[in-house]
Amino acid sequence: MHKHIVVTGVAGFVGSNLAKRLLDAGHRVRGIDNLSAGTLENVDSRVDFHEADIRDPHIEGLFEGADAVFHLAAKNCLSECLKDPLAAASINVVGTLNVLEASRKARVGKVIYADTSAEYEGISEFPSKETSIRPIGVYAASKHGGAAFCESYRELYRMRITVLRYFNVYGPAQDWRRVIPPVMSAFIIRMLSGERPLIYGTGEKRRDFIYVSDVNDFHLLALEDARTDGRVFNVGSGKNFSVLEIYALIEEQLKSGLAPTHSPDLPGEAQITLADITESRALGWEPKVDIREGLRLSIEYIRERVMYEAPGPRNA
Ligand SMILES: NC(=O)c1ccc[n+]([C@@H]2O[C@H](COP(=O)([O-])OP(=O)(O)OC[C@H]3O[C@@H](n4cnc5c(N)ncnc54)[C@H](O)[C@@H]3O)[C@@H](O)[C@H]2O)c1
Repeated sequence: MHKHIVVTGVAGFVGSNLAKRLLDAGHRVRGIDNLSAGTLENVDSRVDFHEADIRDPHIEGLFEGADAVFHLAAKNCLSECLKDPLAAASINVVGTLNVLEASRKARVGKVIYADTSAEYEGISEFPSKETSIRPIGVYAASKHGGAAFCESYRELYRMRITVLRYFNVYGPAQDWRRVIPPVMSAFIIRMLSGERPLIYGTGEKRRDFIYVSDVNDFHLLALEDARTDGRVFNVGSGKNFSVLEIYALIEEQLKSGLAPTHSPDLPGEAQITLADITESRALGWEPKVDIREGLRLSIEYIRERVMYEAPGPRNA
């Protein structure tokens, strides 16, 4: 059945990909974003778009009649969160609470919250299971605050809420404009520009990368499947790659001949992420896009859509 769905953070990387996928499946999408990080060019023209801040109490009306809400809007650049922890808490905790309150008042049928693998950053046993978390950094703590209110609203008001802990999502429309862009976009842009890719630290950090269409498969499943109500799921690939391995996989396709350069490591980043996806798989979901294919599609997108713009940091 076709639904009326609200997506917060619709101008961002995951939100814009999700909106397209929902629209293609025949759903109606109302999108909310304050364009602090996302861009209008990401937003599909079929989206009923509203430029608004998730902390604004007046957004309540935008949730009227919604069957489901995907809450993705967040401040999610680690270094920006560290620099301005009050803003991180205001957006990720208070903003989430405002979205939950609006969803409660509008009697929204289901809320899906975008949580993060950073919840596991203080735990050194791998793969990470949903059952034990230890958020440490400002970003992780603020996303955890949002998730805690999801749990609270589920208990207090019996709302149907699902929490998804994304690992490193990659693919088209990844936010390459950040001061420190996500590793894959950063490498691809530099190598296509004839510059040597920059690695922070030794390049041995390992990340569980998941292609955005696999994440969207899970979104669609969570929308329809009542078994996901009131539960938390890891959304990762269950495999991880070091930064150096990612460089080698990109170089295999680009054949740039450009060796990486290194600069000092970034503070507050986990050494390893790796998802235990047993619970997610038990629902019948399976990550389908392998890393070489995901990188090929990411390179294609950057070649066609990014390289004509002068890549530079959005905010210093
Ligand atoms: N991309 C990943 O690898 C990843 C991993 C784990 C979790 N997540 C979570 O997934 C969600 C989406 O991430 P993304 O990668 O698409 O990020 P993104 O930065 O591309 O998108 C976030 C969007 O939220 C908007 N936004 C920020 N503050 C807002 C506010 N106060 N009001 C309204 N809109 C606001 C931004 O303008 C942006 O368009 C986030 O909640 C993030 O924490 C992402």
